[in-house]
Amino acid sequence: MPILDLTSDASSALSIALIDPDDLRREEVAGVLRGFHGMSVRKYASFPDDLCGLPVMLEQHYDAVLIGLDSAPERAFDVVEGLCADHSTTLMVYTAQNNLELAIRFMRAGAREYLTLPLLQAELADALDRVSTHRLETPQSRKIPKKLFVFLGSKGGSGVTTLASNFAVSLAQESGDRTLLIDLGLPLGDAALNLGMTVEYSTANAFEDSSRLDSNFLRSLLAKHGSGLSVLPAPSEFSSHLATKEAIDKLLAIARQSFAYVVVDAGSRVDLMDTSIFGESAIVYLITQVGVTELRNSNRLITQFFAARGRKLQIVLNRYMPHALLFDEKQITKALTRPALWKIPDDYATARRINNRATPIALADTPISNVIRQMARTACGMSAIPEKKKGFSLFGRKKDPLPGNRSFLEVAEQE
Ligand SMILES: Nc1ncnc2c1ncn2[C@@H]1O[C@H](COP(=O)(O)OP(=O)(O)O)[C@@H](O)[C@H]1O
Ligand SMILES: [Mg+2]
Repeated sequence: MPILDLTSDASSALSIALIDPDDLRREEVAGVLRGFHGMSVRKYASFPDDLCGLPVMLEQHYDAVLIGLDSAPERAFDVVEGLCADHSTTLMVYTAQNNLELAIRFMRAGAREYLTLPLLQAELADALDRVSTHRLETPQSRKIPKKLFVFLGSKGGSGVTTLASNFAVSLAQESGDRTLLIDLGLPLGDAALNLGMTVEYSTANAFEDSSRLDSNFLRSLLAKHGSGLSVLPAPSEFSSHLATKEAIDKLLAIARQSFAYVVVDAGSRVDLMDTSIFGESAIVYLITQVGVTELRNSNRLITQFFAARGRKLQIVLNRYMPHALLFDEKQITKALTRPALWKIPDDYATARRINNRATPIALADTPISNVIRQMARTACGMSAIPEKKKGFSLFGRKKDPLPGNRSFLEVAEQE
């Protein structure tokens, strides 16, 4: 007999992801959840290997995530901490242990509900009620991810434009969502040039009279790439006019209203640090090569500006050649204060071919494009590598009605 009936308003049906490697426990909890009407439950039999894109995927598809702690408490803690750092996912945990310290630890990490087994229907009903109320208070948060990705170089020539423009093409293609690339490179940007696009307008038009700027005006300035990506290029003529912080903030706010994903080529512009481009919600990709100056600059950037950014700073080693380096991995990690998350191989032949023909690397099948595609897929909450190459379901895979693939095992509901 359902205690909480959510079917009265179909749009209010809750969707829950249930993650627990312990088959018995997972089924026990799924059984209790089945007692509620209007609830869709997806079960996962493992924790994800890669936490990077997980918040976006979960935020997009589920109202809440329910995690079983007991089979791997430390792994569960990493997942809870990772998801809660993003502030977007409603997280509930359950355990059979009556342990106050454990409860405090998980609540501090951000879990909204801490439930103990055996799960009482009334207790779960209260918790779900709170999730439901929270969702009604933030109705837009689940449907539209509105992510901002900012590419910053430790030095001119690090590869920011190459990576930002191809990442944006890949993101537009892989996600199928509205994606915009804004080129803030100075003095002359070359993102559009790199993508082989002829353009009419640029950021100069957007900044010229920023009081006129609204979503229609912005749309009229954009160029469209064949991949579906929209581009606001940098000016192709030198200009002494520098955009104000207010103008940049306004452009970004309008861009984020109209697009699910906004990618910014920030060149090596540390002067943008006070703008909303580097606001808390941005995911910053710091692009660096392994050289004395680049690593020194990266160290200063990370310690001065990004020390508290956690997973929202992702370090990318570009033109990486493991066997021809002046520094070993340990020295690189020390300079960067943390390990680099992405390594893009040095591929002179592809880069030259691409530069000459102005076709995006992202559309080719090369070592560079493969890593860029993995970055883009992770960014929009898909598994880094398409599902056919990895992963399996415990009971055979159920057809997934949602876009994107899970990076962890989904257990199909047995009829
Ligand atoms: N992974 C790579 N392998 C080989 N060449 C690269 C790679 N990444 C970038 N390049 C080349 O390095 C040069 C500088 O890249 P660019 O993206 O313009 O840097 P930035 O925007 O940081 O100044 C370009 O000629 C580009 O083709
Ligand atoms: Mg550039």
